Amino acid sequence: MAPAADTRLARAAALVGGARRLVVLTGAGISTESGIPDFRSPGGIWTRYDPRQLTFDRFCASAETRRLYWEMGNDLFPALRDAHPNTGHRVLAALERRGGLLRIVTQNVDGLHQKAGSSPGVMIEIHGTALQVGCLACGARQDRGPVQARFAAGEQDPRCACGGLLKPATISFGQAMPERETAQAAADAAASDVFLVIGSSLEVYPAAGLPRVAVDNGAALVIVNREPTPYDADADLVLRGSAGETLGAIAAQLGLSLSDA
Ligand code: APR
Repeated sequence: MAPAADTRLARAAALVGGARRLVVLTGAGISTESGIPDFRSPGGIWTRYDPRQLTFDRFCASAETRRLYWEMGNDLFPALRDAHPNTGHRVLAALERRGGLLRIVTQNVDGLHQKAGSSPGVMIEIHGTALQVGCLACGARQDRGPVQARFAAGEQDPRCACGGLLKPATISFGQAMPERETAQAAADAAASDVFLVIGSSLEVYPAAGLPRVAVDNGAALVIVNREPTPYDADADLVLRGSAGETLGAIAAQLGLSLSDA
């Protein structure tokens, strides 16, 4: 590794390892090494589906949009359901066990942080979860598998027992953000002393606004991402490259054990 990169890695390990209130924001880039496509890279989900067709209003108004949504689920849900966490997820779980990690705010809906051992109490799934389905009328939640199977068996517009529309429990474009989680994420960012972004293009708000909240409140900002982001200039450190490799190297410098607890 070039000396500069080595130094950057050592500085990142010192910041992350020395944090008393570390807040981590993860995006789809932490899960690509688990076989789940991200959204905006070549071959990403938004290069295969048009997000403008999949807004919340369209979902509610059109049976055809709901069919497209469930069809997309036929394509993407099995990989999501069966994916395994990778080194990046396991390093964050180890950082929690070590102490000093205040929160993981994830934009991801794949549940891989929890599969890696991160406690539900430390997690904020700010865009919901694709592993469950919610009723838009009564709010009842259920596992997605059986409902996705009903669609695959021919039920084109799956309904709740109450008659309401069923929707994957993710937050779609145009859908209200979860108020409590969003406020908590902003409060945690403001309280953080180190804010670590992993695998996000930082293009979708309000999540993309969290680094600014952290920096404005005095936190050091570290970004680990394969591509440049709009917040690179505000960062104390930018580590360009693979999330798994970079986090694995930081864990090695900190002597973290990645075995599941
Ligand atoms: N290591 C490091 N970075 C990676 C890796 C990897 N293995 N794989 C991908 N990346 C980077 C990409 O270069 C990209 O900059 O991760 C970023 C992923 O960006 P997006 O695909 O835009 O995903 P994300 O930032 O999570 O999107 C935010 O957009 O459509 C909505 O709800 C969706 O939560 C999602 C939100």
